[in-house]
Amino acid sequence: MQLESLLSEFNKELGTVTKVADLLNLKAKYIGKQGPLADLMKNIKDASPEEKKRIGSVANEFKTSIEAIVSKKMLELEISEINASLEKDKTDISLTDSVLEKGLQAGGHHPVSIIQQEIEDIFISMGFEVLDGPHIEDEYHNFEALNIPATHPARDMQDTFWFADKKHLLRTHTSTIQVRGMKERKPPFRFVGPGKVFRCERTDASHEMVFHQLEGMMVGEDVSVGNLIYFMKTLLAEIFKRSVEVRLRPGFFPFVEPGFELDIQCLICGGKGCSVCKQVGWVELLPCGMVHPNVLKSGGIDPEKYNGFAFGLGLDRLVMMRYGIDDIRHLHSGDLRFNSQFKSY
Ligand code: PHE
Repeated sequence: MQLESLLSEFNKELGTVTKVADLLNLKAKYIGKQGPLADLMKNIKDASPEEKKRIGSVANEFKTSIEAIVSKKMLELEISEINASLEKDKTDISLTDSVLEKGLQAGGHHPVSIIQQEIEDIFISMGFEVLDGPHIEDEYHNFEALNIPATHPARDMQDTFWFADKKHLLRTHTSTIQVRGMKERKPPFRFVGPGKVFRCERTDASHEMVFHQLEGMMVGEDVSVGNLIYFMKTLLAEIFKRSVEVRLRPGFFPFVEPGFELDIQCLICGGKGCSVCKQVGWVELLPCGMVHPNVLKSGGIDPEKYNGFAFGLGLDRLVMMRYGIDDIRHLHSGDLRFNSQFKSY
């Protein structure tokens, strides 16, 4: 058979091919081992030398043109197969709009997440790192390394959820983050560690078994109570978008010495006294203090050379003050009427 007519037949068949596999079959049919080209080459041995030369070059040309056509077509098919699968697996990022059009509600951020994100950003802008830590802790990180030995009455200050092995617990505060944070770095450093904490307490309007803290720690050569107050005032002014009066009262926490309760002047009455501040003019917001030398030692830091401050900000209380929420239990209610009021960071 004439190779030219074979070529036009091939081209005709090519027009119907839509899949890579079919294209490969078509190629094999024409220039594969069982195809007409192979037949032609089998007979070549009986031909004269000139004939051999002629047939060889025509056959070669035929093979090259088929290969060129196939590889061009292959590229086209591959591109269209990729496009088809992209089309099929496409993510519809317009979903939010179309859901809203159907009258359904879009999700929002939880108010605790909103405040946590804001506070992280404020601390990052002041050169702090943001660290994480596990919810399930051991006694060492929750108590011992924080200067609370087994017999210390301060263990009773925080009602603890213990695991059956009596060695593990749900962390009662984010101070656990301090210990690994110290061990993993060399002073000077500053970091915050936000997260959930757990206490085995009866719930009421201002107490939950699960709530949120944001721990902070700064260690260096000459860190002072003045530094602590400065960072706290800057933080609070950023959160409440106005300058805030603070005062320190002595407070006891085994991991700080001296320890303080930092109060802010009531933002509702400006210090005159109202129901929110129970007529005192001040609201207790933030336990803090200078890191106890024993705690620095647990973190592998020489307390003769370095010192630092630490604080534990209660995020739920801040959320309640910011948004005027009067019952902490709303925060975990999962009630969409509550949650959907807070939309973005
Ligand atoms: N970890 C303390 C608590 O949860 C708070 C705190 C943190 C106090 C850091 C002082 C310094 O009660």
